[in-house]
Amino acid sequence: MTTSRQKAQKLLQKMTLDEKIGQMVQFGRIKDKERDFIAQGKIGSFLNSRNVGLVNEVQHIAMEKSRLKIPLLIGSDIIHGYVSTFPIPLAEACSWNLKLIEESAKHAMTEAASEGVRWNFAPMVDIARDPRWGRIAEGAGEDPYYGGLVARARVRGFQSIGKDGYPISAACTKHYVAYGAAIGGRDYNSIDVSEHELRTTYLPPFKATVEEGVMTFMSSFNDVLSVPASGNPFTIRKILKEEYKFKGFVVSDWESIEELIAHNVADSRKSAALTGLNGGVDMDMHSGVYHDHLKELVKKQPHLESLIDDAALRILTVKYELGLFENPYTDPKLKDKVILNKKTVEMTLKMARESIVLLKNNNVLPLDKKSKLALIGPFADDPHTPIGCWGAACNHENTITVKKAFENANLDFEYQAGCHAVDPKKKWIQEAVSMAKDKDQIILTLGENNDLSGENNSRAFLDLPGAQLELLRALKVLNKPIITLLFSGRPMTIVETVDSSDALLAVWHLGLSSGTAITETLLGLNNPSGKLVTTFPKTLGQVPLYYNHKNTGRPSFRRYVDFDVSPLFPFGYGLSYSKFVYSNLEIKHSVIGKKEPLELSVEVLNDSDVEGKEVVQVYYKDLCAQVTRPVKELCAFEKVSLKAHEKKKISFTIEQTQFGYYTAAMKFIVEEGGFALWVGPNSQEGIASEFNIQ
Ligand code: NOJ
Repeated sequence: MTTSRQKAQKLLQKMTLDEKIGQMVQFGRIKDKERDFIAQGKIGSFLNSRNVGLVNEVQHIAMEKSRLKIPLLIGSDIIHGYVSTFPIPLAEACSWNLKLIEESAKHAMTEAASEGVRWNFAPMVDIARDPRWGRIAEGAGEDPYYGGLVARARVRGFQSIGKDGYPISAACTKHYVAYGAAIGGRDYNSIDVSEHELRTTYLPPFKATVEEGVMTFMSSFNDVLSVPASGNPFTIRKILKEEYKFKGFVVSDWESIEELIAHNVADSRKSAALTGLNGGVDMDMHSGVYHDHLKELVKKQPHLESLIDDAALRILTVKYELGLFENPYTDPKLKDKVILNKKTVEMTLKMARESIVLLKNNNVLPLDKKSKLALIGPFADDPHTPIGCWGAACNHENTITVKKAFENANLDFEYQAGCHAVDPKKKWIQEAVSMAKDKDQIILTLGENNDLSGENNSRAFLDLPGAQLELLRALKVLNKPIITLLFSGRPMTIVETVDSSDALLAVWHLGLSSGTAITETLLGLNNPSGKLVTTFPKTLGQVPLYYNHKNTGRPSFRRYVDFDVSPLFPFGYGLSYSKFVYSNLEIKHSVIGKKEPLELSVEVLNDSDVEGKEVVQVYYKDLCAQVTRPVKELCAFEKVSLKAHEKKKISFTIEQTQFGYYTAAMKFIVEEGGFALWVGPNSQEGIASEFNIQ
């Protein structure tokens, strides 16, 4: 059988230089000029079209008017849903349910593909340790190992095989690389990360997606080791293409090749194009520098044509792999069957249920359905905020808000906004307090709206904006149970909110079915099972704060004279209405030979009358190594379901490579010696043991 790459090679031989460069060009808007370019074979891809009619129209131009009839690749950002909005990726990651995350990705992409989108600029796999960074919402948190597993699940979902036997889309791992390390959490900022840290913390999820077969990558806006990522031969050519043997193609981020000029590593659009090409970026997103300058560059430096051949080959291979040559068009009626269909909407609800994290509960939850409730706060009736940072083609009118869900559940409640989400002047606190006076409980929605989260939305404060805290303080005087729902795209500094609340749920930006999932959880119809994937700091001065930090030479020294360094909530933390008790941690062989996996088991008892799910987490520490290593690292987990009073023995087999690391010379090794191990409900609690590799 001829492979896609062989087919692409054959086609490449027939192509002119213009046509090869054309494959490397992606534009955003489709107007008359672009239509002409398509007919001339000078454009290979478009992004952000959300209109199947238009997609088919331009595909017809490519397939009928261009010389070689090469289909276009249409890309878009389907970060957490297309029309049916799923929870933001950070929230989904808190489910620790990889199967569900994969399903969510598949449903989201199926909707988008019904409008002709066959390339998704996701997953975003950037490790993020700084909650000021708005794009923390788009990733899977702070852990490289877990981040890699979530990234893989998303790739499987986005690239799952459709009815025609081809992947529904090509996924795109982004932003390559270390974009999440932006100094000060300021979006697009420089990073200062050593190669060792790159390989240890930032690269693993990217590598994991290559192993999973991801078809494309996106180079990031930032510089890496002082060379901009969108013109960086070390990260793209050496690490990604040579070392990881990535066979797909790399697209730049939006105009990031042209931005090489602003980075001061290029002095013209032409030299930016040259640097991008030499760096290994195969497709130019939107800036037009490849379109305008590659040909003249090749005329002067003919050896560049081999780089262009390689880029075009990679792009054409993906087009063959997607079956675009065979099926370039999308049935315009498909979207009516697919978009917002029952199963997809149900999936948004399933995903939302498992994404919620219960952070505090002084026995006030679940609620008695007969309670008289005061529903208060700026997000209770806000259909926009649950949509999160990437709405794609969503319509906020589809959002089930908490208020709507309370109505649907026939709850006895009254609603008052109390204050505006951001503007401190817009407040109606007294109205809210008066309304709450005769109620049994207060359900208070606080947090940040979706405009404060996502790209270009970094924050210098992580507190509740506007008059929200004032509202909380006024309600606290009533001395009634306060159940706070924290809407956010990031961890926030909410010590006072936690202290003043009797229960607190992190409900993130949960998507279309947000209100339903929250209401079911409040009523105990859904037992919360999410666990945090990012540390919640107590105060901004602690940031960045993450569980897998190094021990340092002086671990017990105080780090601040005026504050402690412990988190408000650690990585892996999350409560349940069930009570889980861990016992009998057994390591099968406490001394294992080289290459032997570590086998262990632990018993988990659900010591309550309620069925629930627990994320059993395994952490380890390398006790002595050639380089400094984290105080703890996640190395395995399992999400288990336990009936009331049920006890289960959970077994783990952990491959030894999981305990390996990069030496100072960047060699990945697994070393002999002692390791500490913990199994428990989060990164700070658990039963301890140890093992040895000999
Ligand atoms: C810029 C963003 O950084 C990237 O994540 C996105 O995929 C592109 N724009 C395209 O929309």
